[in-house]
Amino acid sequence: MTLVSPAQPDHAYRLVSVDAEPEHVRAAMGRFPSGIAAICAVVDGVRTAIVASSFSAGVSYAPPMVMFSVQKSSTTWPTLRRAARLGVSILGSTQSDACMQLASRSRDRFDGLATTETEAGALLIEEATMWLECEVVSTTPAGDHEIVVLQVHGMGVADDRVPLVYHQRRFHSLHAIA
Ligand SMILES: Cc1cc2nc3c(=O)[nH]c(=O)nc-3n(C[C@H](O)[C@H](O)[C@H](O)COP(=O)(O)O)c2cc1C
Repeated sequence: MTLVSPAQPDHAYRLVSVDAEPEHVRAAMGRFPSGIAAICAVVDGVRTAIVASSFSAGVSYAPPMVMFSVQKSSTTWPTLRRAARLGVSILGSTQSDACMQLASRSRDRFDGLATTETEAGALLIEEATMWLECEVVSTTPAGDHEIVVLQVHGMGVADDRVPLVYHQRRFHSLHAIA
C-alpha cells in the first residue's frame, strides 16, 4: 500500500509505502473530514448504540439511502442489526462529549442523554442536527469492516444547529467561508 507524502524538496509528491500498517492508514484517512452519526435502536428493551464517522449521506436519493462501515470486530453491531429500524442522529457541534460516551466501551452509553424512541424502535438522540429512521437493506464485507446500506424511511432536520465535524481525531465546528 502506498501513501502520498508531503511535498519533497523538489516540490514533487511521492508515494511512500506504508506496508498496510493500520495505524498509518487510519492517520491518513483521518485527514478526510466527516460528520458523526449515532446509530441507535432499542433492542430487546435495551438502548443500543454505535457511533460512525464512516457515515455517508446521499448514496441514493430515490429511494433515499445512506451508508456506513462497521468494524467486523464490533460486539455491538450483531445486536443492533437485529432492530427492525435504526435511528441515525447526525450529531451537533455541542455533542462531542455525547459522541465519546455513545462510543464508549466502559461507560453507560446513554447515561444522561435525552433520547426519543420511534414506534418502530429506532432511537434518536435529542439536540442532533438531523435524524433518520432507517432499515438495513444490504451488508457487504470490505476488509476488516462491513459496509452497511440503509434505506431511509423517515427524516427530520434542525435548521438552527451546526453539525459536529471529525478531523484528524479531533472535533471541530463548521463555519462558512463563502
Ligand atoms: C469519532 C468516532 C468515530 C467512530 N467511527 C466508527 C465507524 O465508522 N465504524 C465503526 O465500526 N466504529 C466506529 N467507531 C467506534 C464505535 O463507535 C464504538 O466505539 C465501537 O463499536 C465500540 O465497540 P463495540 O462495537 O464492540 O461495542 C467510532 C468511534 C469514534 C469515537
